[in-house]
Amino acid sequence: MLLAAAPLATAQSIEDKAQACAACHGEGGVPPDKSWPVIWGQHQGYLYLQLRDFKSGARKNDVMGPIAQPLERDDMLALALYFSRKAWPNLRQPRAPAPRTRSRRRLRAPIDRSAAPDAIRPGTRAKEPNRASPDRTRITS
Ligand code: HEC
Repeated sequence: MLLAAAPLATAQSIEDKAQACAACHGEGGVPPDKSWPVIWGQHQGYLYLQLRDFKSGARKNDVMGPIAQPLERDDMLALALYFSRKAWPNLRQPRAPAPRTRSRRRLRAPIDRSAAPDAIRPGTRAKEPNRASPDRTRITS
């Protein structure tokens, strides 16, 4: 019984600790102030390093510095893992415009090398001069 309850207790304590972050980083991952960063769905390694740096002062911020100060390494790793497992929230930002299809189609069009004369086909040479050319006819006659 005790053994089975232990992992649950740990999971809950991280949930509790993460609850303190929701005030600024958002209940559903959307921060109430647009200038506060989204931490849901970011990489665990990145989130951990930011917390570590806030704690050490390598990353200076008057708000996050004091929050990270009391956190132990294991707390920071667990919080980073917790938030990295959340999905990146829908920020209701406008979508990027769709790429212009006309130019994309042109790029994808296959090159028809059979239509090219021998002289400009790679790796080949014209076998004989083009005698049908009106210019050549004029020079040789
Ligand atoms: C009082 C508001 C507030 C609370 C509470 C808070 N944060 Fe922050 N957090 C901020 C602000 C503001 C920043 C941006 C700091 C900066 O610009 O350097 C930030 C930045 C961060 C970053 C860096 C994000 C990035 O994209 O670089 C992480 C990670 C972070 N907070 C984690 C947490 C965790 C974990 C908790 C809970 C233990 C928490 N925060 C609680 C306000 C808060």
